[in-house]
Amino acid sequence: MEIEKLRQMDTMIRGWLRAVRAEILTELDDPLTVQEKTSRKDLVTNIDKKNEKRFVAAIRAFDPQAKILGEEGSGDHVTDMHGHVWIIDPLDGTLNFVKQRDNFAMMISLYIDGKGVLGYIMDVMRNIIYGGGPQLGVFANERQLKAPANLALRDGLLGVSGPMLVHDKYHLQAIDAASSGVRIIGSAGIEFIQVLMGKQNGYISHLMPWDFAAGNVLAKELGLLVTKVDGTPVDMLSSNDVLVSTKNTQKDILNMIR
Ligand code: IPD
Ligand code: CA
Ligand code: CA
Ligand code: CA
Repeated sequence: MEIEKLRQMDTMIRGWLRAVRAEILTELDDPLTVQEKTSRKDLVTNIDKKNEKRFVAAIRAFDPQAKILGEEGSGDHVTDMHGHVWIIDPLDGTLNFVKQRDNFAMMISLYIDGKGVLGYIMDVMRNIIYGGGPQLGVFANERQLKAPANLALRDGLLGVSGPMLVHDKYHLQAIDAASSGVRIIGSAGIEFIQVLMGKQNGYISHLMPWDFAAGNVLAKELGLLVTKVDGTPVDMLSSNDVLVSTKNTQKDILNMIR
């Protein structure tokens, strides 16, 4: 796609995110309508659903032929990655949103014929949009990000999923011991931001496509690796145990799980 067109889309998508953030803030103290999906720890609120409808409407108006994959079902039933596919997580870290009103994100990405073109993660309460793509670079609001240092596992913090650590999946407890320490934030988007910024050298979690699609675009652009935990490619249309990390950390983790 032409760079000028991408720049216009970048401005437009950042505008959608800022507008939806402004709405969230005006309602932050209002009572939420909270429903359980699969369990009392898997929640959806009126804000998740409203945000998704807002993003879907904006995408449909701009790109009517595109397919939209969204967590809460306002998009399409997407079965392949041909053409334009927008992937959205209207509110990532819903449990944090409900319990903390903090540490939650909104994520939007565009893939064309399976290739990540644009990705956006907004840290809503800090008002920072991490976004861009292979032709634009990656920006935190106006500031361009550099590739983080290629830290080894032992030299940094690793974001993990709580359940995976408790169940010691992939020897995660030994991986924890080999790292400088683990962190559990509870929002895949905020975890990806830590890795993009070099504050954590990796993150491991069981994720759906909308949890990692935006982060995948941004991480790769910054020289990070995004794969399944066994090092094989992620599938954009199903759940994956995802590892995003520096190259050296991936090498260290693969050595420990093989
Ligand atoms: C969840 C969060 C959480 C991750 C879960 C996701 P949601 O997303 O990203 O950190 O561990 O797997 O489902 O449901 O709050 O958008
Ligand atoms: Ca959810
Ligand atoms: Ca999510
Ligand atoms: Ca969500």
